[in-house]
Amino acid sequence: MITRPRNEGLRNDTDAFWLPFTPMRVFQHDPLIFTGAEGMHYIGADGRRVLDSAAGLWCVNAGHGHPHIVEAIRTAAGRLDFVSSFKMTHPDALAYARRLRAFAPAGLDYVFFVNSGSEAVDTALKIARGYHHARGDGARTKLIGRAKGYHGMGFGGLSVSGIGRYKRGFGPLLADTAHLSLPYKPETMAFSQGQPADGGSLADELETLLQVQDPATVAAVIVEPVVGSGGVYPPPRGYLEGLRAICDRHGILLIFDEVVTGFGRLGAPFAAQAFGVTPDILTCAKGMTNGAVPMGGVIVGNHVYDAFMSGPPETIELFHGYTYSAHPLACAAGMAVLDIFENSGLAEQAARTAPLWETRLLSVKGRPHVADIRTIGLLGVVELDPRPGAPGARGAACAQFCLDQGVLVRASGDLIVLSPPLVISTEQIGLIVATIEQALENID
Ligand SMILES: Cc1ncc(COP(=O)(O)O)c(C=O)c1O
Repeated sequence: MITRPRNEGLRNDTDAFWLPFTPMRVFQHDPLIFTGAEGMHYIGADGRRVLDSAAGLWCVNAGHGHPHIVEAIRTAAGRLDFVSSFKMTHPDALAYARRLRAFAPAGLDYVFFVNSGSEAVDTALKIARGYHHARGDGARTKLIGRAKGYHGMGFGGLSVSGIGRYKRGFGPLLADTAHLSLPYKPETMAFSQGQPADGGSLADELETLLQVQDPATVAAVIVEPVVGSGGVYPPPRGYLEGLRAICDRHGILLIFDEVVTGFGRLGAPFAAQAFGVTPDILTCAKGMTNGAVPMGGVIVGNHVYDAFMSGPPETIELFHGYTYSAHPLACAAGMAVLDIFENSGLAEQAARTAPLWETRLLSVKGRPHVADIRTIGLLGVVELDPRPGAPGARGAACAQFCLDQGVLVRASGDLIVLSPPLVISTEQIGLIVATIEQALENID
């Protein structure tokens, strides 16, 4: 039985909205439209429910429509619609920044608010360069990213990203960038649960790259602690520690892009705490407000902030910011999310569920077309062998099959990328896995 929502009444309304990352003509032919969401499910116009295995887009960690978050936004909207953050603010922004500081790894004590992950990354890169400039070391401008890294769609984030096809057609990006390779060896790391045991020494590649680039010209290294959009690659044990040590040795800032890994996905507030490695700058977004209001943040170490505070007190230390930085609705949603972490133990819940999730997902090994499975915390990917001459077609067919069974999985090419809300139940894990298995048995 097909349980995918049918939205016949809305089919003709698709001629004005240009969707992100979407094949428009395919979409217009067969649009997927949801009119509501609740807990683990999306709801179609016809009332059909679809199990969300993507937490929206890695963001609805506490489940859809969480009443506490909804109420916080409602109340905030009636109190203060907007106030600029340029030379003024509101109490919730102050309170939320202080609560985030307590939630973040020790030593990261200052929060700069933005409105998305892309803005968070571009802000972090600018802060990194500005930090060296403020210390009289303005020659440090180079930014080092990593293969398969995804850091949003701003020109800065795209420049340090490691997914070439996203750069195609947009002309020159930032010149001063270099990239590490992905610390992944299929011979030893395929189908590993959590962090691969061996491979920490792959961080030494940074030392080699620095000798080529001249470390005195490098401002920052930016990595996702676990590669997300690029295909869910957990870091080998010791790898992040290695990057940290090399950055320290050369006075280079280490930036963790935690837009995906933040807010409980790995069973701790941030990956930095889960892995015990603290960056100089941390970016976040998505789960920050449970996806309910756009928001991002850059949380910086005291040493980074302090470097900016050296000039005359009346000068603006950072010529940067956005109209909607620390928007009242976003701050209210953000605080409600932190309430849920504190009162319901959302990160602990994710930590308890993760071993079952990881084991069940790995049990898909051996099904047709499965090339690899990688999983850590409540993240996972089932990588499929592409159809000869038609990359992405098998992934799309798998996602379509699952959707027709009432389970939304996200296909990125031939990767079935999974990041369910952290409140997922044992039965729902079973349903997602069984549906993917069924899909693999039925598609060619
Ligand atoms: C690691 C990472 N950084 C940055 C971004 C960009 O976030 P946004 O789409 O909110 O701009 C994303 C989005 O998926 C991401 O996964």
